[in-house]
Amino acid sequence: MNRDEQQASQRLAELRREIHFHDHRYYVLDDPVISDGEYDRLFRELQELEEQFPGLVTPDSPTQRVGGAPLSSFETVAHPYPMYSLDNVFDGDGFQGFLQKTQRFLQHEGDIRFVAEPKLDGLAVELIYEQGIFELGLTRGDGVTGENITSQLKTVQTIPLRLQAGADIKVPARLIVRGEVYLPHTGFELLNSQRLAQGEPLFANPRNAAAGSLRQLDPAVTAKRPLAFFVYGVGEPGILSVTCQWDMLQYLGKLGFRVNPHVRRCGSADEAADSFEKLLQLRHSLEYEIDGVVIKVDSFDLQNRLGATTRAPRWAVAWKFPAIQVTTRILDVEFQVGRTGAVTPVAILDPVDVDGVIVKRATLHNRDEIERKDLRIGDNVLIQRAGDVIPEVIKVLGDARSGNEVVVSFPENCPECAHSLVRPQDEAVTRCVNSHCPAQRLQALIYFAGKSGMDIEGLGKKNMEQLVKKGLVSDIPDIFRLRAQDLNTLDGWGDKSAGNAVSSINSAKKSSLSRFIRALGIRYIGEVNASLLARRFDTIQRIMSASKDELLEIEGIGEQAAASLVDYFSDPSARFMVENLLESGLEITVEDYGEKPLEGRVFLFTGSLASMSRNEAKQRIKSLGGQVVSAVSRRITDVISGEKPGSKLKKAEEMGLRVLDETRFIRLLGEEEVA
Ligand code: IVH
Repeated sequence: MNRDEQQASQRLAELRREIHFHDHRYYVLDDPVISDGEYDRLFRELQELEEQFPGLVTPDSPTQRVGGAPLSSFETVAHPYPMYSLDNVFDGDGFQGFLQKTQRFLQHEGDIRFVAEPKLDGLAVELIYEQGIFELGLTRGDGVTGENITSQLKTVQTIPLRLQAGADIKVPARLIVRGEVYLPHTGFELLNSQRLAQGEPLFANPRNAAAGSLRQLDPAVTAKRPLAFFVYGVGEPGILSVTCQWDMLQYLGKLGFRVNPHVRRCGSADEAADSFEKLLQLRHSLEYEIDGVVIKVDSFDLQNRLGATTRAPRWAVAWKFPAIQVTTRILDVEFQVGRTGAVTPVAILDPVDVDGVIVKRATLHNRDEIERKDLRIGDNVLIQRAGDVIPEVIKVLGDARSGNEVVVSFPENCPECAHSLVRPQDEAVTRCVNSHCPAQRLQALIYFAGKSGMDIEGLGKKNMEQLVKKGLVSDIPDIFRLRAQDLNTLDGWGDKSAGNAVSSINSAKKSSLSRFIRALGIRYIGEVNASLLARRFDTIQRIMSASKDELLEIEGIGEQAAASLVDYFSDPSARFMVENLLESGLEITVEDYGEKPLEGRVFLFTGSLASMSRNEAKQRIKSLGGQVVSAVSRRITDVISGEKPGSKLKKAEEMGLRVLDETRFIRLLGEEEVA
């Protein structure tokens, strides 16, 4: 090595160390200590220096996360130690059975200490570190051999490429860790909504999506999927100086791995059972799927005495949650027309209890999905309900067919207004393009009065349906003409609720231009685009008469938004409606827009985002005029809560700050329609 090379190699080592440190602060601890700009400078310096000295690039370099070339097939590699599976139990009795067996085996009557861990519903992987560097990553495979997916795993930001040594922390010569790679809900929904829009087959659940993403021969594809990792064990506990599962998790955390924050040490079996109940409650509020609780004997000494059967260790058990996938029958298929005319097929199901909720309907997404799954009326199907997501049909149980099932025929005409339906060439969605379609109109009315619109109290979905049915409201101006005496005699209404609704309507009559534009529910015109329009044009009349070219001149307004707006106001009845509203008392106030649509808003992030890095998110907020801070305070207008939010979320909630999840945040930025 010449002098230059020596100097470069020293600087490279420094840069990698620093960047590893900051990656860990950012991705694992959610607590960055430098600004994004400083981080970017370090990263650029590293990239440039490596370009100058390609011979000095090391496999643990932060630049190598997406470095791997596409593979033609996966190589099979034997696990150094077999990767066991777990025995399952499904209720308290099952758990008691496990407990008795354990006590009998150990000839031990008293309490045993356990660790209770969420059972993550992703894919088990093994990561092998040599001298602290991530060298080999394998799938579980059949437990004896797995597939080499090292390049794919390197793209997972929460997998450390290099382990952190510390004053009291020694990195072993070789470390084999095991854990779960998973896809957070937000990443899953985003991925599927993109696939839906492109007419590609949907992933049935986050686990399949994670598996599909990891098994991509080209790691560049994996890199685009926001996968994450939690560690839960090691291959050879004997080589470590810790003596129990709990201490081992703490140790792995110090080496730089992400340990699930909900793991709990339990002094007794009762405490373990209590952990099960707590996690069951928490299940739907987590940012990722869990399907049970793994209860492990804490002490390694006892673990060794218990040993394993050929399949699973005797010192651990998976206590599974009740299923969120159940089977039922499709009784019928209905076609629902949305605000923008999109026609969505919906399965009417034989009502069934899914994890405590009676499910009667499930979305079938679009025509392609029905064909792909070959769904027929009368079919027995597997359905799934997860979190807040609308229940879905996962697949047909084909063996159970009687032959009397009826093929679903997608209508040629709108089921509500009979107008012919259109499916644009490169879209997966079929639409009713009649802007007077009563179904679209109802959805538009609901949207106008709803939270994203004029936010009128008492005019939620149910009540709006009632008002439309009663003939009191058929278009937006009718809302502004409602009087207390129209409402107070209706079913479910009284003087008080009618009075409140009318006063809320009256306050909505004074609206800012951007809110009003947004409330119209024009496709692609959400909060940010509405602000951009209002800032540029000042009056509703000027917006109505703007040409597409004029609209495209506005930075941030894209082709789709411009075309959609022009299309909306090219319909004379839309213009007539606006005139009508102005006559019935709508007063559009002029905003002081300042420079940017998010000007004046102060954002705080907690947890990691699935769809973009925090850097990118910050950048986008700043480019729209918003500010990003890192400490909780009353100044904050929006808290963006990603996956694994930290203590900041709790603080923010206690202070009553507005919290947006990732999907809502993306909507705020991007305006796209989320399916
Ligand atoms: S321990 C020998 N801990 O469950 C112990 N497994 O059915 C084996 N899993 O393939 C695993 N979360 O993918 C363990 N906290 C956790 C886990 C966990 C999820 C999965 C893992 C394994 C499967 C076993």
